[in-house]
Formats: sequence, C-alpha cells, structure tokens
Amino acid sequence: MNNKGVHIRTFGCQMNVRDSEVICGLLKKEGYKIVDEPKKADILIFNTCSVRQHAEEKIWSALGKLRVHSLAKPTIGLIGCMAQNYKEKIFERAPNVDFVIGPSDIAKIPEMISRFTVHGSRLSQSGNKRTPNTEHRTPSAELFERKIWETDGDIRPEEIYHTGFYEDKNHAYVVISEGCSNFCSYCVVPYVRGPLHNRNHKDILKEIEGAVEQGITRITLLGQNVSAYKDNQVGFVELVKLVELVKGLEEFSFITSHPKDTSAELFKAMRDRGKLKKYLHLPVQSGSDRILQLMNRGYTRKFYLGLIDNYRKVVKNGVLTTDIIVGFPGETEDDFKDTYNLVKEVQFDAAYIFKYSPRPNTQAEKLGDGVPKNEKESRHALILELQKKISKSKKC
Ligand code: 5AD
Ligand code: SF4
Repeated sequence: MNNKGVHIRTFGCQMNVRDSEVICGLLKKEGYKIVDEPKKADILIFNTCSVRQHAEEKIWSALGKLRVHSLAKPTIGLIGCMAQNYKEKIFERAPNVDFVIGPSDIAKIPEMISRFTVHGSRLSQSGNKRTPNTEHRTPSAELFERKIWETDGDIRPEEIYHTGFYEDKNHAYVVISEGCSNFCSYCVVPYVRGPLHNRNHKDILKEIEGAVEQGITRITLLGQNVSAYKDNQVGFVELVKLVELVKGLEEFSFITSHPKDTSAELFKAMRDRGKLKKYLHLPVQSGSDRILQLMNRGYTRKFYLGLIDNYRKVVKNGVLTTDIIVGFPGETEDDFKDTYNLVKEVQFDAAYIFKYSPRPNTQAEKLGDGVPKNEKESRHALILELQKKISKSKKC
C-alpha cells in the first residue's frame, strides 16, 4: 500500500476521458491517491491527443511550462495517442518525461509507476530492470537512462473496465469498442489506437449493471464508430435493445456513429426505446462527393442527406450534430460551397468545424497541405458563422 498522489491531465475526446478514469480506478486499487492539483502530485500523467497538430502543440507547450516551474519534479508520464504517435521520440523533445505508454498498454500503468517510486524515491538506474520485448532503452544516450516506454500492446484486458471508478456520480462513459478500422484518409486514430475491437456484449452489460448498482442512472456508450459494433449475433441495434433492459438505468446515448454503418433500424430503436436519448452525432466531414471520396468516407452527399431525411422522419424532434473538416487537400471553392450549402440545408443543431491538419502515416498526408492557411481560416469562419446563426435560430 502506498499513498502517493497522482494527477492526470486529460486532453482530447471522451475516449480519453474514460481512459483516464480507468487508469484512476486501477491506481486507486493499488492505494494511490488521485489529487486534483498538479502541484500536489508525486506522479503527473498527461493523457494526450494526436487528432490535429494543434492538439499536440498544446501538450508540448504544457510539458515545456512544467520544466520551467517545477522545483521538486514529479515522475512524469505521457500516455494516449501522442505516446503511440511519437514513442521514444517523446524523450528527445520533452526530456522531463519519464515514461511513455500507448493506448493499448494502459493496464500496465500501475506497474510502470511502481518502478519509479520504490520506497518513496525515484528509482535508481540500476534498479530499472528491463523486461524483454516490451520495454526499450536507447543504450547510447544518457538522456534515456531510466526512461521507459510501452507501445506494443494489443487488446486491452477486459478487467480494466470493471474497477467501478467513474468521475461523475450520476453518469458513466462505457466503452463498447476500441480503435477503428475505417482508415478515413485524414485520420490518425487507426494508427494510434489500432484496429476496431468490440468488447463482448455480456461484459458491457455487466459493467453497466455494476455502474447502476453504484447509483449511476445515465450512461453514454463510447466508440470511434459505435454503429459498426458487432459481437457475434449482437450488432449495435441489438446492443441498444439489451442496454434498454438494464433495470435502474434511466437514460443512455451513444457517440460516435459513422454514416456508412448507420441504419434505419437504429432510428427506429431511437424512436421506440424510451431510455435512449434522441441525439445523433453523425460526422459528415464534407459536402463534396469528390472530397468525400478522397477522404475515404464510403458514402456520398446524397446518401448522407437521405439518411438525415430518414432520421428526421422517424425520430421526431431528434437532435442532430456533426463534424466538418475544411481545407482538405485539393478542396476547391466549389467543394467548399458544397459543404457550406449542405450545412445550410441540413440545419444541424450544432457542428464542430475543424481546419484540416496533416497527420503522420495517413493517406492524406501524401496529398500535401495545399489549401493555404488564410483560405482555411476564412472557410472555417464562414461555416462557423453560418452554424452559429442556425444554432441560435433553433434555440428560439
Ligand atoms: N484534421 C482536421 N480534423 C480532423 N479530424 C480528424 N482528423 C482530422 C485532421 N487530420 C476531425 C474529424 C473527426 C473529429 C473527431 O476530428 O472531423 O470527426
Ligand atoms: Fe478516424 Fe474515420 Fe475512424 Fe472516425 S471513423 S476515428 S474519422 S478513421
């Protein structure tokens, strides 16, 4: 048992929020205290995001500031998508980081931390024994002594989801699938979070029942593409029907759905299942067929509009939100107009609009970053302005 303080700073999406909770749950079991201020922490963990360069820059900058201000340096860990994206290169750019762990290896965090905090002091070089295959050190560089990284993991052990730790007393995020196998051409997720892996539906239901027993009444089912969920005979619609049956659960929702896998059956379930929130986040990304194809999204503008039409007919008063990327390589003025007009036509309740950011290893990276920064900015501002008006008019 130990009483060391751990603080986790979480960047990025809900999946990271849930991962941080999972880590807190695992660490609490080992006797660590979760502290709300970095100043009080013996171990400081950055749970990072790589979806756009801007997200990464924020994290590099936070790490840099830490170097300047910290007198008694805590053990610093960098985990999540950037860990997988940069691996041991993290130590070159941020030498104050002690360990790096990728998203598939989060179960190893307690063990990793214990190696740095033996008997209340940070581990000496000789005590840092290597485990073959999973842990690496650069032999020549002194800088890397005592630095360790784990980014070779495969499927996460199921137990990590059952510690019973949730930040919110009333609401829980429940992961139904990890990773993504869609390979949208701009997206780094399949590279950093690995291929789609569906949790067993019985395990998911067990987790939900456990959460409800603790007093949680609302849950959000999480996955990069929940609509592609499949566990033998149980697809996403079947899963939703089973979740509805959990006694004591009052309300649930899900994010994120991919248009190509979203079916009318799901809309019917949203209409008929009283506990399922009438809320759909359905990223369109672009309104231009040419760009959708370059993005490898697997649907056309017409297909998307048909889907929305169906949603609105079946799910009365259903809320609809989306994600949009402007300035994808080769996006012409006409392509942009297609997106602008789609936003005007669909009248989303809210839209998250992003400027295209080239990501390492992706197919789109090979296309360059041709739309000039100022053009991206003005396209971004135009859609933002339009969406603001739409959102405002919908609230009235
Ligand atoms: N550049 C800009 N936005 C991106 N997204 C994903 N990858 C990129 C990228 N390379 C956006 C998409 C996705 C959301 C989570 O982030 O719109 O739906
Ligand atoms: Fe990325 Fe596309 Fe997978 Fe979403 S569906 S995580 S955008 S690859």
